Amino acid sequence: MLHFDYRNGTLHAEGVSLTEIAAKVGTPFYCYSTAALEGQYRALDSAFAGTDHLVCYAVKANSNQAVLATMARLGAGMDVVSAGELKRARAAGVPADRIIFAGVGKTRDEMAYAINERILGFNVESAAELDALSSVASELGRTARVALRVNPDVDAKTHAKISTGKSENKFGIPYGQAPELMDKARGLPGIAAVGIHMHIGSQITDKKLTPFRDAFRLMRELTMELRQRGHVLEHLDLGGGLGVSYTLDNQPTPQPADYAAVAREALGDLGLKLVLEPGRLLVGNAGVLVSRVIFVKDSAKNVESRRFTIVDAAMNDLIRPTLYEAHHEIWPVDASLRDKPSIVQDVVGPVCETGDYLALERRLPPFAAGELLAVMTAGAYGAVMASTYNTRPLVPEVLVRGKEWAVVRPRMDVEAIIALDRLPGWLS
Ligand code: LLP
Repeated sequence: MLHFDYRNGTLHAEGVSLTEIAAKVGTPFYCYSTAALEGQYRALDSAFAGTDHLVCYAVKANSNQAVLATMARLGAGMDVVSAGELKRARAAGVPADRIIFAGVGKTRDEMAYAINERILGFNVESAAELDALSSVASELGRTARVALRVNPDVDAKTHAKISTGKSENKFGIPYGQAPELMDKARGLPGIAAVGIHMHIGSQITDKKLTPFRDAFRLMRELTMELRQRGHVLEHLDLGGGLGVSYTLDNQPTPQPADYAAVAREALGDLGLKLVLEPGRLLVGNAGVLVSRVIFVKDSAKNVESRRFTIVDAAMNDLIRPTLYEAHHEIWPVDASLRDKPSIVQDVVGPVCETGDYLALERRLPPFAAGELLAVMTAGAYGAVMASTYNTRPLVPEVLVRGKEWAVVRPRMDVEAIIALDRLPGWLS
């Protein structure tokens, strides 16, 4: 993984040893690399050089203020899905006119807040939402810029829980209804219908990028039809979804340049700004979750023995393995462990659920209690999906830049979690 490699026998993030960070902040912790974040952003942005475009980083993938500020300094806009994310993006210094507000269920309060912030636009997902937005904007005496999210009914060929562009998914407006809804939008007070949006799913790794190709072709056809109906479009929002390698082997996933070529071929001549909403692509391989082995236990499974490596990180810290059957590579922090004969094992956490694992039946070094391991490709949908289940405090996040590093979120305090609760009068 670029910017995470072994130096002097220890896994480093750029110029900083993960052992050193573990000694100072304890485990588990997330660690992100600035060089990796910047490298991915620049790779995508430069792949679209020469085409009018705006990269709106999908905040949901990793919303730490330090990550957002790193992106903002590179000129990124942002794609947010709640008032909370909008506040985060603004707090990190992202100009409002670079922020897109997406999501199927925006409340009127959220709409009003975003309208008053003067964001770049709303991605609208239903006729009901369009009416509500029109009414909120009119009450405020403002105009909301809108792109209709269309559901192209394209199979993204990814995990069912992160596939969004099929007609049975809750997202977007059925493709065939989009022209009529755009006509309706044109007549609504407080609405300027300036674009169309799509997002067909996440972690799309199809070698030929066929799902994107198919969806872009439909976007093109819809643009033509809308123009015939007299609509003046400003942008096409292509969503996110380009996948990353979770196996970190020699089978490369499609690269930003391949994706840009497909987008340009289908849409480049339309004279419209292309808005991109990448999440995982920018942060996935910019982060790891470092954990320490607590115990090792060998249990009998029928006649075979089964090895459990019990670590201090759990499903509440990284839920992807159990929620999506996701594969994350696990690397020892101590390089010398790689030379020892590997052993098939389950890497599990302390949470009281059978689904609490980071890896199942994986051939890995023979970890012993006290040793550190790194769960790779944990920069996207890791810390943001964490919970305090089992009253386990959220873990720290660390950002590295060259030889420098900083805690960008301290470890949560158990007392603070307990203090969130209140006893009603009859119990106190
Ligand atoms: N735009 C929209 C409208 C989205 O719904 C999403 C992700 C993105 C952009 C960014 O997609 P990306 O480039 O990151 O693939 N928690 C799951 C992923 C859920 C994705 C939700 N939407 C996971 O851990 O795999």
